[in-house]
Amino acid sequence: MIISAPTDYREAARRRLPRFLFDYIDGGANTEQTLRHNVSDLSGIALRQRVLRNVADLSLGTEVFGQSWSMPVALGPVGLTGMYARRGEVQAAMAAARFGIPYALSTVSVCPIEEVQRHSDRPIWFQLYVLKDRGFLRHALERAQAAGITTLVFTVDLPLPGSRYRDRHSGMSGPAAPLRRIGQAFFKPHWAVDVGLLGRPLDLGNVSAYLGRPVGLADYIGWIASNFDPSIGWSDLEWIRDFWKGSLLIKGILDPEDARDALHFGADGLVVSNHGGRQLDGVPSTAHALPAIVDAVGDQLSILVDSGIRSGLDVVRMLALGARGVLLGRAYIYALAAAGDAGVSNLLALFANEMRVAMTLCGVRSIAEITRDILVRSNSPELKRLVT
Ligand code: GLV
Repeated sequence: MIISAPTDYREAARRRLPRFLFDYIDGGANTEQTLRHNVSDLSGIALRQRVLRNVADLSLGTEVFGQSWSMPVALGPVGLTGMYARRGEVQAAMAAARFGIPYALSTVSVCPIEEVQRHSDRPIWFQLYVLKDRGFLRHALERAQAAGITTLVFTVDLPLPGSRYRDRHSGMSGPAAPLRRIGQAFFKPHWAVDVGLLGRPLDLGNVSAYLGRPVGLADYIGWIASNFDPSIGWSDLEWIRDFWKGSLLIKGILDPEDARDALHFGADGLVVSNHGGRQLDGVPSTAHALPAIVDAVGDQLSILVDSGIRSGLDVVRMLALGARGVLLGRAYIYALAAAGDAGVSNLLALFANEMRVAMTLCGVRSIAEITRDILVRSNSPELKRLVT
């Protein structure tokens, strides 16, 4: 199929993947209301066209956490990326490094930290989930540090998995799931050979390295439900801040009060996120939540945002709302599933091109010049309050 827009990769991925994997990345929690609002609230924000302002020397480059980014976009942590393409985490990290942007490796990746870092010219980021077994946390942080990683993304919005009903329908979880998955893979021979056969070992690489035995994926959602720790609070985790000398980002903040707690905890940055609408359905979209958080702590913390970003125009909108950069999730996984690292590279080039068009026609030349001033004042009532 012909890929021309970033969103074309979704259909390309759907054709290539067994249903349980497509639905796992594509789906959200409950009735997927928040997932839809993430996209529609963001794409509904009107940009303010300005003309004849000489924007010939336009630059997308920026600096966050002392690192230079060729554009204000990072590849966010996505569990099981190695199920979407052969050794998928390695391919995604290579594409990000080539483009000059960060790649964040999930705790629940297929490829372990060392394998991914070995293939990337740029230090990757590591994302941490809190498991009941705290020995795992220390082990993972020590390995990340030994691999030269300096940025930790600590995710706080998954003390338990959201109600992902699509996963039960698709065979990701639920009755006879393993059998149903084998049946689906049979009809996707390209994936079955490329990933199912040649992408092995298919296990939770970081957890397997800790336990000294492969932790398989037969009941991945069940594994999360029984191993993630819902009892945690900020004070239990002070040792993470003491232990980790590099940059520490807290991911999964939606409320200004939690943003202040994260600041108090000693975070260097935040990711405003509702986990792509995969956790608590019914919470606000991130486009909606972001401005108040920026107003509360934006002068003290670097604020990134994810959820609902499907285009370069969306990146510009999030920056205008006050983010320093964005993380992609589904958008790049679709491209990775469809065409591997070349697909991710192409997606990033499409995003960059869309950003250039938007910046040119909004009359701004640099990332720093993207402010609320490039938004139309008659945007939604909430935005109207913020941009006037
Ligand atoms: C895990 O992070 C998930 O959202 O499935």
